[in-house]
Amino acid sequence: MSKKFYITTAIDYANGSPHLGHAYEKVLTDIVARFRRLMGDEVKFLTGLDEHGQKVQMSAQKEGVAPIEVCDRLAEEFQGLCSALHISNDDYIRTTQERHKTVVQEILQKLYDKGEIYKADYNGFYSVRQEQFVTEKEKVDGKWPEIYGDVVEVTESNYFFKLAQYQDWLVDTIKTNEQMIYPRFRSADVLQFLKEPLNDLCISRPKERLEWGVELPFDPDFVTYVWFDALTNYITAAGYGSEEFDQHWPADYHVIGKDILVPPHAVYWPIMLKALDIELPKHFLVHGWWLSSGSKMSKSTGEVVNPLDLIDQFGADAFRYFVTREMNVGQDSEFSIELFMSRYNSDLANDLGNLVSRLLNMAGRYAEGVVPAAEIEEAPEKELKTLWTTTAAELVSLFEDFQFHKALDRIFTFVSGINRYAETRAPWKLAKSEQAADQAALRTSLATMAEALRLAVVMLTPVMPEISDKIRGLIGAENFERLEGQLVWGDTLAGKAIGEKTILFPRPERKV
Ligand code: MSP
Repeated sequence: MSKKFYITTAIDYANGSPHLGHAYEKVLTDIVARFRRLMGDEVKFLTGLDEHGQKVQMSAQKEGVAPIEVCDRLAEEFQGLCSALHISNDDYIRTTQERHKTVVQEILQKLYDKGEIYKADYNGFYSVRQEQFVTEKEKVDGKWPEIYGDVVEVTESNYFFKLAQYQDWLVDTIKTNEQMIYPRFRSADVLQFLKEPLNDLCISRPKERLEWGVELPFDPDFVTYVWFDALTNYITAAGYGSEEFDQHWPADYHVIGKDILVPPHAVYWPIMLKALDIELPKHFLVHGWWLSSGSKMSKSTGEVVNPLDLIDQFGADAFRYFVTREMNVGQDSEFSIELFMSRYNSDLANDLGNLVSRLLNMAGRYAEGVVPAAEIEEAPEKELKTLWTTTAAELVSLFEDFQFHKALDRIFTFVSGINRYAETRAPWKLAKSEQAADQAALRTSLATMAEALRLAVVMLTPVMPEISDKIRGLIGAENFERLEGQLVWGDTLAGKAIGEKTILFPRPERKV
């Protein structure tokens, strides 16, 4: 069996409801997955939930329920978000699943047997209220901030994973593997981090402090802690230990936010894999943050946008369009509802939505609801076709290079071109004339608009799958599974029945 294109998102923490940041990462990954499918790849697309840890245990305690209840509820919420966003994942992993715990324990045992994991005393400051270790760095004006309550110095035995011995190998790997991290400038962050000597990684917590984790197979008094558990999800879902594994691994892309590249994904993960003799993932696709009033949108800042509110009101595709159009992958982007509304109204409702309804309207009135054949090619047609040629020439490579915001910009420039063409040809005027030349121009203009619209939505498909299919249905165009041949201008729609006039992007009912 041939190797699949394996793409993953980060797995979300089960410590709060999903927000715009989580939704964005899924949309971004989904666009890559859908694009690869169109390019002919067989894709495995994984997303999931990171369920163990102190915070989950604490919120369950507060609610007086078992931690798994909190996780089940959040798993439902996050999966609900995936379906509301039309995310085409093939698998959803939860770190509390048996398949995952088995793999985590298997690799822990392997590394322990190889002598890569050892037990040692750990000395540090511990916040009793937050139930976590804190470091001097967290002090403000020489004092522990109020939120930590009492901070005491404790010595605790724990297990450590030997990172330090792989430092030179990792530096070398990152330096020689320029394509590994996208955008490339992020490699510099990794190399900067690796300038300091690496400390070995504490991978355990004693059960008396944290029970909600995967038990160490070689010491039942401890559970493994955070990253060792979470990162392993990528190989669990790939079928580690079974025949299926080679079909998926190495992952082609781990899609993650910039906050979790260094050290977890770019340092811990490659070293874990190297120590296990497993190939490294091919690439990391590292996106920036959605900001709200200048800072990262997150549960702790409280300034979060609930994507479901926007999806409810404007539809999944409008949401997908907005985040993809606004975010230059790798950079940060500020969210504002004004910006959302302006994109919705001008790009979607006015430019695309009006074009579709105009065409349906005119085809109904002047061509008995059928797309005519193009009969002539004059300056307006030539101009629009030339615009398409330059647009089409760029689109696939913009998608391959994750320049989705630019690809959308080009597509919408072409949509404006179609609207301009309609103004120039003015079919509503041609329809008033009985002259044969005007009638031929009328039929040609409708055919040209329909074909141009078909082409415009080809590469919108991975971004706005529902709307694109709908538009194709309305103009009699076929859906397709492969991109091949789709971007070529033809007279493919002649004779196809046009659908009823509909409003694709209704104005919002409530003020937002
Ligand atoms: N559980 C870890 C990841 C483990 S992966 C083996 C985690 N979870 S998270 O819920 O905090 O974040 C999940 C993903 O959402 C991360 O890639 C993170 O960067 C992304 N985002 C969270 N907030 C974000 C924004 N405000 N903007 C964009 N994405 C950000 O980290």
